Amino acid sequence: MSNGKFGIGILGLGTYVPDKVLSNYDLEKMVDTSDEWISKRTGISERRILDKDIPAFEMGAIAAKRAIEDAGLTAEDIDLIIVATETPDYLTPSSSCTIQNIIGAKRAAAFDMNAACSGFMYGITVAKQFLENGFCGYKNILVIGCEALSKAVDYEDRATCILFGDGAGAMVIGKVEEGYGILTSHLGADGGEGHNITLPCFTMKEEDKNIREHDNKRVLWMNGSEVFKFAVRVMEKSTLKVLEDKNLTIDDVSLIVPHQANIRIIEGAIKRLNIKREKVFSNLHKYGNTSSASIPIALDEAVKEGMVKKGDNIVMVGFGGGLTWGAVLIKWSK
Ligand code: UT7
Repeated sequence: MSNGKFGIGILGLGTYVPDKVLSNYDLEKMVDTSDEWISKRTGISERRILDKDIPAFEMGAIAAKRAIEDAGLTAEDIDLIIVATETPDYLTPSSSCTIQNIIGAKRAAAFDMNAACSGFMYGITVAKQFLENGFCGYKNILVIGCEALSKAVDYEDRATCILFGDGAGAMVIGKVEEGYGILTSHLGADGGEGHNITLPCFTMKEEDKNIREHDNKRVLWMNGSEVFKFAVRVMEKSTLKVLEDKNLTIDDVSLIVPHQANIRIIEGAIKRLNIKREKVFSNLHKYGNTSSASIPIALDEAVKEGMVKKGDNIVMVGFGGGLTWGAVLIKWSK
C-alpha cells in the first residue's frame, strides 16, 4: 500500500450461534418427519435456536465484537455498519443502529438491508463501493448477517421448519495489499419469482385481496422444489460469472463457500461446476439454513479449520428470497 494503491478485503471475521440445539430427533416429536428424511433430503442433523426472549441483534453484536477484535481494531474504528437480515427485531430502530449502540461504534453510520439469503453478498458488495469511492474517508466497514429464523418459522409446517436455524456472522472490510481482497462481485434478482419464498410484514392486512392463505399466518413459507431448481442453476451461473470477470477458471478456485441451504443443492452445483467435493465448504449438518448469516459463519469456520491461505481464490455464493442471488470472488490477503 506504500504506492497508494490498495485492494479492499476482509480484515476480520466473527460469528455467534446460540447454545440451544434443535436436533432432527427433537423435530420428530413436533411434526410428521424423521431424522432419516431430513438427513437424506437436506444434509441437516441439527440447528441452533435463539431463546424466545432474546433479540436477534444480540447475536449480531457478539459476532460484530469478535470480527472487530479479529481485525485488531476497536469499535470506534468502524465507519459504517451494514446489517443484512430478513428477521430484524424491529423495522425501526434498525438492527444496525441497535448494534452500533451495543458495541459502542460511536462514529459509525448504520443501516439494514434485506436480500434474504443473498444478503451478505449484497452487503459486502455495497461496502466495497463505499471504500473504493473514498466516501467520507471511510476505512473500515462492518457487515453483519444476523438471523433469528426460529421466530419466523411455522413449527407446524414440516416442509420448512426442518430447514432453518439461528445465528450471526460478521466481517470487517477495509484496505488490504494491492491485488488481494475482493476481486469482483455479481448480483442478481428476479422479482417475478418472489412468490416462491415469502415472509409477510405486519403491514399486510388479512382483508387485502391479494394475500395468500399461508401469508395470513405471518410465517416463512417456501415452494421448496421451485427454489431448489433455481438455487442449483444460479449457484453455477454466479460462480462462473465472477470467474469469467477475472479471466479465471474453476481450476483456479481453492475454495467455494456457498450459502448453506441443502446439501443436495451444493452437490448439484459441484457436479455442474465440475469441482472437487473437498473444495466446497459445508457446515450445514450443524446449523441448517441461517439465511444471510450462513456464508460468514461458514467462511469463519473454514478459516479457523486452516482451509484458507494467502493468495487463495475463494468464491462465496448465495441465493434465496426475492428471488435474489450473488457471488463474491476474493483473493485471500492474510
Ligand atoms: O435459503 C433459501 C433457499 N431455500 C432453499 O434453498 C430450499 C430449497 N428446497 C429444498 O431444500 C427442498 O426442496 C426441500 C428440502 C424443502 C424439500 O425436499 P424435496 O426433495 O424437494 O421434497 P418435496 O418438497 O418434493 O417433497 C417430497 C415429499 C412430499 O411427500 P409426497 O407428496 O411425495 O407424499 C412431502 O410432503 O416429502 C414430503 N415431505 C416430508 N416428509 C418428511 C416434505 N417435508 C418433509 C419432512 N419430513 N420434513
